[in-house]
Amino acid sequence: MSMDGSQVQNAIYVSGESPWPIAPEEWEARAAEKLDPGPFDYIAGGAGSEATMRANLEAFERRRLRPRMLTGNRERDISVDVLGTRSPAPFLLAPIGVLSIAHAEGELAVARAAAATGVPMVLSSAASHSLEEVAEAMGDAPRWFQLYWVNDREVAVSLVRRAEGAGYTALVVTLDTLTLGWRPRDLRKAYLPFVTGEGCAQFFSDPVFRSRLDRPPEEDLLAAAVAMLARFPNLDLTWDDVRWLRGETKLPLLVKGVLTAEDAVRARDCGVDGIVVSNHGGRQVDGAVAALDALVEVRDALGPETVVLMDGGIRRGADVLKALALGADAVLLGRPYAYGLAVGGQEGVEAVIRHLMADTDLTLALVGGMQARELDSSWIAASF
Ligand code: FNR
Repeated sequence: MSMDGSQVQNAIYVSGESPWPIAPEEWEARAAEKLDPGPFDYIAGGAGSEATMRANLEAFERRRLRPRMLTGNRERDISVDVLGTRSPAPFLLAPIGVLSIAHAEGELAVARAAAATGVPMVLSSAASHSLEEVAEAMGDAPRWFQLYWVNDREVAVSLVRRAEGAGYTALVVTLDTLTLGWRPRDLRKAYLPFVTGEGCAQFFSDPVFRSRLDRPPEEDLLAAAVAMLARFPNLDLTWDDVRWLRGETKLPLLVKGVLTAEDAVRARDCGVDGIVVSNHGGRQVDGAVAALDALVEVRDALGPETVVLMDGGIRRGADVLKALALGADAVLLGRPYAYGLAVGGQEGVEAVIRHLMADTDLTLALVGGMQARELDSSWIAASF
């Protein structure tokens, strides 16, 4: 089963005009025109000097593919199956919080685009629509839930139970945001959407969280937002908690934010089913290692069996294939789909997804690969 990238390409040429931007940089520029500086910089910005954000992109630049000719690869397959969840492309949509700042329909528009393309969505704990609403918008389409493990364990477990009940088929626990990184662009404008109650829908719809409030969010939004923010920092969390959560749910469990071989091995020892190598798009530790470099180290330490995903800097088809060749079972697409949402709502997200699928397939065709998931490090030049 495959998609044919040349059909997407031909449709654009034949129509005489592309209805959408093509280059990721153009999507970003169009999003910057559409959005106010606060929301745009919240999405586009990172921690500190944004060195890690740049390093994520540079790590892809630094590596080169080794195309093979005449492999007879007319039939190709870019689909993957990750922990029982199928995707027609080797990517899933990364958890991105508070998407209502990009478009009024927020996560619902993304959910519909995911469902229309079959690409799974990882819904954020910091979303502006409840996980039940998003599930309803998706029908049977595949979805995972990302957990911010707040400092109130009963609230965290309540979110897990709700995700189980609403058809989310894996749980991604984010480890790298136990407190918020130092983000100059947002600080300069004093812009944090949660302060005004945006991006709090999982909590405001949660019965356990609500039981903690004197008055419900409908009556006192700001007090509820403050209560949510107060639960957010959780630097007490340790690997023992991950081991505990492993025993609490039957869902496949992934941890997101691992950047070293040592932590990857530790995570596996806690019984997790998969690891997402990520530096949160350079939004947390400025100066942290590039995600693609960390992927190499993590895959090396874990060997071929453990499921490893990565995100940070995936912009084009070649990036997707380089990450797969360096050991990822699949990647997560982040900022590019948020820009698609800002530019064109559901249709914009769909266009971003379909373009990336086409680019991935055409690049696979041209490097002589048959199955994207079969690529290995022999497809990457040792150095240049
Ligand atoms: C994120 N990311 C994120 N991760 C997570 O686990 N939960 C979340 O709620 C969010 N929220 C969020 C908001 C915004 C605006 C951005 C840009 C990112 C991180 C995300 O899942 C992913 O790791 C990065 O986006 C990957 O980097 P690139 O490829 O987008 O640069």
